[in-house]
Amino acid sequence: MLNNQIINWYSIHKRDLPWRKTKDPYSIWISEIMLQQTRVSTTIDYYNRFITQFPTVKDLANADEQEVLNLWQGLGYYSRARNLHFAAKTIVKEHKGIFPDSYNSILTLKGIGTYTAAAISSFAYNLPHAVLDGNVFRVLSRIYGIETPIDSGKGKKLFQQLATETMGDAIPEVYNQAIIEFGALQCTPKSPNCESCPLLANCFAHKNQMIEVLPKKSKQIKTKNRYFYYLFLSCSGRFAIEKREGKDIWENMYQFPLIETDHPVEHHDLMKTEKWNLYLKNSTAIINSQTKPIVHKLSHQHIHASFVHITVKEEELAKNDLVFISMEEAEKYPFPKLIENHLKIISK
Ligand code: ADE
Repeated sequence: MLNNQIINWYSIHKRDLPWRKTKDPYSIWISEIMLQQTRVSTTIDYYNRFITQFPTVKDLANADEQEVLNLWQGLGYYSRARNLHFAAKTIVKEHKGIFPDSYNSILTLKGIGTYTAAAISSFAYNLPHAVLDGNVFRVLSRIYGIETPIDSGKGKKLFQQLATETMGDAIPEVYNQAIIEFGALQCTPKSPNCESCPLLANCFAHKNQMIEVLPKKSKQIKTKNRYFYYLFLSCSGRFAIEKREGKDIWENMYQFPLIETDHPVEHHDLMKTEKWNLYLKNSTAIINSQTKPIVHKLSHQHIHASFVHITVKEEELAKNDLVFISMEEAEKYPFPKLIENHLKIISK
């Protein structure tokens, strides 16, 4: 049986990961949200720090959003942290601070979809819900040779049925960890280790030279290019930051004043933009230097960021939402990785 073979493989190859040593649904939830877009090796330290700082769902609910974002700094996709915080408050308000223990009630929490609900309900409560994530899509599509696109409604339904059948009567918590680990370490997206694979004899894709083409997707999501010009406005050893407003990737985090365009612009054109005028209206400041763009790749967008260094007189600046801080004070503010890296470079 496939489920047994995968579990046998897991018992030999499994990694010793902190979230596999607990049955606490809150801790498992934190780990699964972090793991959605972050590698295991990066997640471990963030997970340990998060659980130390907020050991229970009540601690998280009582925290300041700023504190939560600070702990998340560097992990990216910050809406995950905001949703965790929101859902923690829901658990306190609507479930008396006790993590819900059924698949359907877990699924109602903000930021939790079918994958995370299945992961928490199986890992914490051993409920028979088969997980379906990128790893599982890949393993099942290759073994069974299924070409239905995994990003179609039909594909999701089909693969969910297959995932449930494949789990069969295995112990849910063990089987789910096993198939995730098998996809992550053995049946990898590129150059899977087929020679040492215990499922080789039963793998449709391997027999039919289809490893490279499975799983299939129907749409190629178009990548959007955004051009960020961060103004590093410095004045007597301090520099300006502002809170990022609006529903976007870095909502409520801090950044240098920003001019965004949908195409690259030269520095003299930057000085003609509305935003420049907003920030530097009454100023005689000029641009001292500008860094070459760095490309920050997110799942559906590429951000081309460059840093424009300008010396200003603080009293000349028109926009009052700017906060002038020293390098030492920067630690207190949550910044996107791009900004954090630039601060590291210039403070050397
Ligand atoms: N990716 C998603 N969930 C995981 C888990 N529990 N262990 C390892 N990698 C994962």
